[in-house]
Amino acid sequence: MRSLLFVPGDSDKKQAKALACGADVLILDLEDSVAPARKPAAREMTRTWITTAKVQTKRPMLYVRMNALTTPYWQDDLSGVMPAAPDGIMLPKPRSGADVELLAMHLAALEQTFGIAEGTTRILPIATEVPLSVLQMPSYVGASPRLSALTWGAEDLATEIGASTNRRSDGTFTSPFQLARDLTLFTACAAGVPPLDTVFVNFRDAAGLRREAEAAARDGFTGKLAIHPDQVPVINAAFTPSADDIARARAIKKLFDDNPGSGALSMDGQMIDIPHLKQAERLLARAF
Ligand code: COA
Ligand code: MG
Repeated sequence: MRSLLFVPGDSDKKQAKALACGADVLILDLEDSVAPARKPAAREMTRTWITTAKVQTKRPMLYVRMNALTTPYWQDDLSGVMPAAPDGIMLPKPRSGADVELLAMHLAALEQTFGIAEGTTRILPIATEVPLSVLQMPSYVGASPRLSALTWGAEDLATEIGASTNRRSDGTFTSPFQLARDLTLFTACAAGVPPLDTVFVNFRDAAGLRREAEAAARDGFTGKLAIHPDQVPVINAAFTPSADDIARARAIKKLFDDNPGSGALSMDGQMIDIPHLKQAERLLARAF
């Protein structure tokens, strides 16, 4: 899950374009990019499109972003798209891990109704869109075995707290949003799922996107949301371990293999110990 591209659920033009753009995950959106009057059409188009896309042999993972549990739409969203058995559901604006548990219960019932293997529909929450959730981040740890990753949002959170902007003039996030980002990283790691960075909305600014994606990768995020196909290759590059990174990880692994029972070793004048070995193993698991 390096790149996750949002595709409006009611746009057949964008859906047609999405499959071949190289994204690891497509998120068919029924929420903010679909106007209220278009929700029923979007559910139907999304279901039909996923059903067709799922039979392709080499395809991205297919997720659906439902509407929040506080809206009148979410139950129709789920019953509308679950017959297509999407790989996962993105949950916007959860208030805490209890909302993940509630969604998991509904998914279990729908899986039974539509003959889908129980527990196979994953859940990806956008954990920081409402202030209450930011205050309850530990509740996501262990909330459900369906949890596939954790990501965060800065746009709805800005509206919720009354912030006139979420970025400084140099493009970096202001303090409240930096906190939301960092808490997502810690929470995802505590939950044992991949941390995913939020969208970069200025989709014509490839250099700004690259900077932000590389900073996220440096800090431990393993992927990033996208809103435009042009963002996908930039994100994939930032979250794919480089040849140098892979070579170094292999060398660390070999050093420990050659010195069984050692805790701390030296390589190129630097101390290498067990945390470095674990990090190298994690990187090699992500390399493909
Ligand atoms: N998925 C698939 N295809 C997309 C796409 C997306 N998210 N965004 C743009 N495209 C397609 C366009 O349809 C266009 O196709 P064409 O070459 O066949 O005409 C091509 O990519 C180039 O698009 P462009 O003209 O540069 O952008 P646009 O003005 O058409 O669209 C947005 C700009 C922001 C409206 C569009 O990128 C979008 O809808 N993004 C997703 C929005 C969303 O889901 N938001 C919710 C999550 S925050
Ligand atoms: Mg939103």
